[in-house]
Amino acid sequence: MPAINLVDIHKTYRGKVHALRGVSLEVNDGEIFGLLGPNGAGKSTLVKIIMTVIYPTRASGTVLGLPIGHIDGLRKIGYLPEHHRFPGYLTGSQVLNYFSALSDVDRSTRKKRSSELLHRLGLGDWGKKKISTYSKGMLQRLGIAQALMNKPQLLILDEPTDGVDPVGRREIRDLLSELKAEGHAIFLNSHLLSELEMVCDRVAIMVKGKVTMQGTIDSLTNESKRIEIEVECSPPDWSHEAFDKVEGHTMTKLGDDTSSVQHLIDRLRAEQCTIRSIKPVRETLEDLFMRAVDHIDNPGSHGGKK
Ligand SMILES: Nc1ncnc2c1ncn2[C@@H]1O[C@H](COP(=O)(O)OP(=O)(O)OP(=O)(O)O)[C@@H](O)[C@H]1O
Ligand SMILES: [Mg+2]
Repeated sequence: MPAINLVDIHKTYRGKVHALRGVSLEVNDGEIFGLLGPNGAGKSTLVKIIMTVIYPTRASGTVLGLPIGHIDGLRKIGYLPEHHRFPGYLTGSQVLNYFSALSDVDRSTRKKRSSELLHRLGLGDWGKKKISTYSKGMLQRLGIAQALMNKPQLLILDEPTDGVDPVGRREIRDLLSELKAEGHAIFLNSHLLSELEMVCDRVAIMVKGKVTMQGTIDSLTNESKRIEIEVECSPPDWSHEAFDKVEGHTMTKLGDDTSSVQHLIDRLRAEQCTIRSIKPVRETLEDLFMRAVDHIDNPGSHGGKK
């Protein structure tokens, strides 16, 4: 059973802003799923619909096997909202206590879990301090701790590394991998592409309220795989036939079959052509993202697989 199965979600704000135009996506149980998209694409709108912070114009589907917004499903979700603002007069421990009480976590579990999570998120000494004294990155970590207080089956994080420094971001990435190993499904929004590339099992790219690509990074970038050979000599005449592309000192063969270039390398070397590098290349998540954005703006262009 998928953790999240959304079918044809529409949201129009105030009858005129079409934030979501028929979004369907599936998050499998136990995976880390990344929703990417430029500013204003509709990522937070989608998350808010799952969490019933706002109502959809039209929606169907399930979350943890129950209809979207079902109270029994919501109880099993941990949620880090975008731009969360906890009251500054509360201490870190009080924030964790207050929000987990709302999720029906009992008092003794709240006490035990809050101190465990403060340590896990690197805030061990800060539990008794008012959060008005916290830095942006510390507030974000506290927000993640808050989302974990009810030991959620599904964790929904809207921009979890917003405002966090590179060391902290790495710690959060490691934490997400640990949580996945512990069996949590994780749905996260971000535009920090390289980061998502490192942790996500699957991604969806959303542009202007529509999901334009969805799948594993491997499957989405499969077609772009190629082998590039850079040489010091001028590429010989025959190379234009033998390779798919020759540009400057670089010859490109499409695909990832290394055996297909061995005889070409032998021939180049037999002709005393010095090889500077041979490397397998594939699109990065950033390339994919750019392709998706470009495809929506220029529908006739290449890319944008459904
Ligand atoms: N409460 C609202 N009323 C009217 N329009 C809204 C409201 N909230 C969001 N929008 C609009 O809906 C669209 C999607 O916004 P949303 O916040 O979901 O984008 P996002 O993908 O999360 O962007 P970001 O990466 O900047 O967080 C935008 O055009 C935004 O202006
Ligand atoms: Mg957002």
